[in-house]
Amino acid sequence: MKVRLFFMKSGLLLVIVSGLLGGCYYDNEESLYGITTCDSTFVSASFSTDVSPLLEAHCNRCHAGSSPSGDISLDTYSNVSNYVGNGSLIGSIKHDPGFKAMPEGGGKLNACDIKKIQTWIDSGAPNN
Ligand code: HEC
Repeated sequence: MKVRLFFMKSGLLLVIVSGLLGGCYYDNEESLYGITTCDSTFVSASFSTDVSPLLEAHCNRCHAGSSPSGDISLDTYSNVSNYVGNGSLIGSIKHDPGFKAMPEGGGKLNACDIKKIQTWIDSGAPNN
């Protein structure tokens, strides 16, 4: 009788433990995509290592080359600064009212990427 009870208990324990492990795994996966990991660590962002690669990945198949979409080029620092100055870069990325939501036809950038660009702009959008 005692032995059987032990097995029942350990079986229950196993279910609980694997539930917890599953939960942990899910949390980790979520933090890869969530804002939690960049909220505390982001103090500065650079054009060349943070902003430019994001524009390359999400924007420049339309906003570069000889006939860029909307006549807006985002391929060099000086081209990008035009749209920092008038607010349309961050406005379009954040889907703020009054701006065309970008990337056009695609999903909004994730919160961490938006924060990188915002941090760079807030620090004066340096050519760094
Ligand atoms: C699939 C092509 C495509 C992609 C990808 C794309 N854009 Fe655009 N973008 C356009 C077009 C087309 C327009 C012009 C829209 C219009 O004027 O109706 C535009 C307009 C804009 C404008 C002007 C918005 C305004 O309200 O004045 C900005 C700024 C901009 N894009 C930035 C970006 C950024 C930043 C990304 C990447 C995060 C991006 N775009 C991705 C096609 C694209």
